[in-house]
Amino acid sequence: MRKNLIAANWKMHFDLITALNVARGMVEILDNKIETVVCPPFVYLDRLNEIFNGSSIWLGAQNMHYEDEGAFTGEISPIMLKSVGCKYVILGHSERRHIFSESDSDIHKKVISALKHGLKPIVCVGETLSERRDGRAERVVERQIVAALDGVDLDGVVVAYEPVWAIGTGVPADVETVKEMHGFLRELIEDVPILYGGSVKDRNAFELASIEDVDGFLVGSASLSAQSFKKIIDEFEKAKGVN
Ligand code: 13P
Repeated sequence: MRKNLIAANWKMHFDLITALNVARGMVEILDNKIETVVCPPFVYLDRLNEIFNGSSIWLGAQNMHYEDEGAFTGEISPIMLKSVGCKYVILGHSERRHIFSESDSDIHKKVISALKHGLKPIVCVGETLSERRDGRAERVVERQIVAALDGVDLDGVVVAYEPVWAIGTGVPADVETVKEMHGFLRELIEDVPILYGGSVKDRNAFELASIEDVDGFLVGSASLSAQSFKKIIDEFEKAKGVN
């Protein structure tokens, strides 16, 4: 059976006190069966590692550099992430690709490096609105996936389909689109878990989770509250019949 997974991407939100409070709130109320991951900003990882220790929540980072160490001012290495308890790392998020100009080749190097250090990469792919309108959605996603996973042993890899046009809008991609793209990805990567991301909320989680090839979610703004994150996980488990 394919693994189910729900990950919270906090992006660049919260001061320290708020991050600690939300993390403690999650430890208090999350009692879910499926693998749950929280990816806070780097500076909170160590403190959240202490809070999550002994809980059902795993820690992830939102990015990393591919080198082990060296003169890379401002960067964070996989060795650092391991040393503060990370199990997962999000790679190639659309905000990294589009705002920070990360290339397919950068992301490929990061995937190789993450796996070498025992971190599970959550590799994000997704087309922009203009790419979709031009009828190039599948071609773009295929290019991203082939580049990121070239020569990679897929054991431990997670993929997230996040259509750029659905992120942060409050409106996810429609069920037909998600079905089509996850089905397309399934042909390429078979048993690799495929998450959906882009405006996942408690109100739409059940419908999205009912799609067979959706193995989990990558949740942005709705993961900033312990209660709404829990509701999403509950809806997912209901839809998948996990109990
Ligand atoms: P939202 O859930 O806020 O749309 O963000 C999705 C996302 O980018 C998760 O990585």
